[in-house]
Amino acid sequence: MEIIICENYEEVSQKAAQIMLNVIKDKENAVIGLATGSTPIGLYQNLIKDHQDHQTSYESVITFNLDEYVNLPKEHPESYYSFMHTNLLNHININEENVHIPSGLGEDIQANCNAYEESLNAYEMDIQLLGVGRNGHIGFNEPGTSFDSVTHVVDLDEKTIQDNARFFEGNMDLVPKKAITMGIASIMRAKKILLVANGTNKADAIYELVKGEISTSCPVTVLRDHPCVYVVIDKDAASRL
Ligand code: GLP
Repeated sequence: MEIIICENYEEVSQKAAQIMLNVIKDKENAVIGLATGSTPIGLYQNLIKDHQDHQTSYESVITFNLDEYVNLPKEHPESYYSFMHTNLLNHININEENVHIPSGLGEDIQANCNAYEESLNAYEMDIQLLGVGRNGHIGFNEPGTSFDSVTHVVDLDEKTIQDNARFFEGNMDLVPKKAITMGIASIMRAKKILLVANGTNKADAIYELVKGEISTSCPVTVLRDHPCVYVVIDKDAASRL
């Protein structure tokens, strides 16, 4: 695990974007795993700027997103479908047919999970980007999730609902209570993993990742078993190391 401690969020975003760009520039049809949350936004802005300044092409790049809320229409501004289009996909030359975002809509969500896992399995993921929840969740794999899990439906943790209420008028009642997420085993199959975090509210999760026991009670700790992980964090997230 390579831990890169940066001065501030801007530097986290630049360094992480560089790691992602190395993969994208190295292989025309790179398969990249994308994440939502506020942390990766700066990284995405750097990718957009690089695309504008250097014409890095995404024409053959294939993307897979980690997760999506259940029962939130795609057009809802807080759906992860909208988030990805607003913050990255609408600004690069990606082919929409190469974009994969789990669907949390329809009668049979388990069938959506199976279909998503099947499409994931058809590719070898070159790099998976991850943020981390305050409670150590990755994707929406909340504490207690089995390390063998594949794409599945989850009940969101109380802490996650609290944290995400800021995107829903500050009202916990408006936050969807279920989500569909790639599992921990799905994530661990990626060749490389890039985790970004900033702020003191992530310091405990980062401490557990680097120094804690590997345990399902803090899902991010599973990354210690992965052969190629980059952890790009600011000083505040690193403050307990
Ligand atoms: C959400 C996402 C996660 C993300 C986490 C942290 O719950 N499902 O993938 O890592 O929040 O978000 P933020 O970066 O806003 O702290």
